[in-house]
Amino acid sequence: MTDAGAYKPLAKVFHWLTVLLVLLTIPAALIMLTPGIERWLQDPLFIFHKNIGVVLLLLVAVRLAYRLLNPPPPLPDSIPHLQRNIAEATHWLLYGLLLAMAISGFIRVAAGGFPLEAFDRFGVRNLVPRSDSLANTAKQLHALLRFPLIALIALHIGAALYHGLIKRDGIAKRMMP
Ligand code: HEM
Ligand code: HEM
Repeated sequence: MTDAGAYKPLAKVFHWLTVLLVLLTIPAALIMLTPGIERWLQDPLFIFHKNIGVVLLLLVAVRLAYRLLNPPPPLPDSIPHLQRNIAEATHWLLYGLLLAMAISGFIRVAAGGFPLEAFDRFGVRNLVPRSDSLANTAKQLHALLRFPLIALIALHIGAALYHGLIKRDGIAKRMMP
């Protein structure tokens, strides 16, 4: 097996923290919107989802800044061009969709006049004007973008498992703790 290099420790921390929060916040959102769900469960899930979403927005922004200064290790030559391009496009789309989800969620809540419990004391909601039509557009975008995001996450995890369990070419190890 050729040496496929490895991501830096901090890049791995960013990756796995993002994975943890995303894989908690998506099910939380889907459960909190289930018809007939009881308020004692729905309310804390809403608070969790909104606030973790803002944490994710900050995390992805910091992660991207770190990535610009610390480019990922080059893929080994054994990876065909097409596969390389698909991997790169998937990663950029994942970053873009995470940012778009977090920003649309934030605008939906701030423009709609809803609380953002952990962040209200910093006045962050004032960044967005109060507007029902803006809140509604953001809400629709937020609901729509979940489809490509969930599909890409599934594709990405499938590719990681394929490399790690079937091809065993060292690619999956690049991101392992
Ligand atoms: C990467 C971050 C985020 C992801 C992956 C995400 C994902 C989701 C998903 C999958 C749904 C269910 C959509 C549906 O079934 O219609 C949802 C709903 C929702 N999200 Fe997020 N979200 C994120 C960030 C945020 C943020 C930052 C906020 C607010 C500060 C937020 C507020 C909401 C609200 C209020 C709903 C319910 C939508 C409604 O009003 O009906 N989300 N989110
Ligand atoms: C919410 C779920 C996930 C998201 C949003 C996500 C996102 C990302 C992103 C954006 C990158 C590119 C890193 C960069 O070059 O800047 C990446 C790389 C990587 N991810 Fe994930 N990931 C997720 C889950 C997983 C899981 C569950 C695994 C393992 C089973 C995994 C394995 C990897 C590996 C091995 C790489 C490095 C690929 C390479 O070397 O080119 N990811 N991930």
